[in-house]
Amino acid sequence: MEIRHYPVMHKEVLEYLLIPPGKSCMIDCTTGEGGHTSLFLSNYPDLEVIGLDRDRDIQAKAIERLAPFGSRFHPVLSWFDDYLAQADADSADAVLFDLGISMFHYAESGRGFSFRNGERLDMRLDADGALSAADVVNGYGEEALADVIYRYGEERYSRRIARAIAERRREKPFELSSDLAEVIASAVPGQYRHGRIHPATRTFQALRIEVNGELDRIKPALREAERVARKGGRIAVITFHSLEDRIVKWFFKDEEKEGRVRILTKKPIVPSDEEIAENAPSRSAKLRVVEKV
Ligand SMILES: C[S@@+](CC[C@H](N)C(=O)[O-])C[C@H]1O[C@@H](n2cnc3c(N)ncnc32)[C@H](O)[C@@H]1O
Repeated sequence: MEIRHYPVMHKEVLEYLLIPPGKSCMIDCTTGEGGHTSLFLSNYPDLEVIGLDRDRDIQAKAIERLAPFGSRFHPVLSWFDDYLAQADADSADAVLFDLGISMFHYAESGRGFSFRNGERLDMRLDADGALSAADVVNGYGEEALADVIYRYGEERYSRRIARAIAERRREKPFELSSDLAEVIASAVPGQYRHGRIHPATRTFQALRIEVNGELDRIKPALREAERVARKGGRIAVITFHSLEDRIVKWFFKDEEKEGRVRILTKKPIVPSDEEIAENAPSRSAKLRVVEKV
């Protein structure tokens, strides 16, 4: 069965990211499999979308899926902060970010995002990136590893987990995601092991964020998005965890204070009960939208 990433809060995103009539341009900073882009291209016949993604494999899926839209879709293989830094000012009517990774990464990429499939510990979105998850797990000092797990995973057992990893890798370096998940599970208290989420979930999130520099890219990208949006253009950001959401929320608040944007979502928009029932992973999503003034 092919699991396709479900475009989160698609109705709300369409409603808030107003595209003016006539020839217009949107930048989808996280195209993924092209769910949101496909919706926008279908709804706006004169719209062109510049679709960014740093992952070559998922980009190939988007290109195939969006082929019916012909030259209205322009795929670009790039980190979004890098692309936006060199894009023309005042050139986009709308900019969308749907942060994080896609269901594809867990279910199909084979790069160790999932701890169930016994995949190699890689987690790079950029296949040529210098740092893999195995490099972090086998190469960071115990304290630095604990810090990463605590900071990016908000994992309260970060020190115990880092200690268990350091002990096990002295015997044999980690290669597979399933081995790492087992060591993590055996390092945490029994109660935690039988909790709502797998005990390795937070550590895996932390590793992914560290490997891809995910959080460090958000603020510079938002600043550039603001420059690249035209006056009256809108910027929408969907986040999936509080670390991301905090960065977006405070950035927009500061920018509003400086008179550069108007916040259109005083409280973040969250998925409806129906959407959560249909697509459980959407439950932690938050949408924030601003308009450039
Ligand atoms: C949650 S998915 C987006 C799904 C998409 N909105 C859809 O409807 O199919 C996020 C995508 O952004 C990509 N990505 C994450 N961070 C990125 C970054 N800093 N620069 C470029 N692409 C990034 C990931 O590879 C992934 O494909």
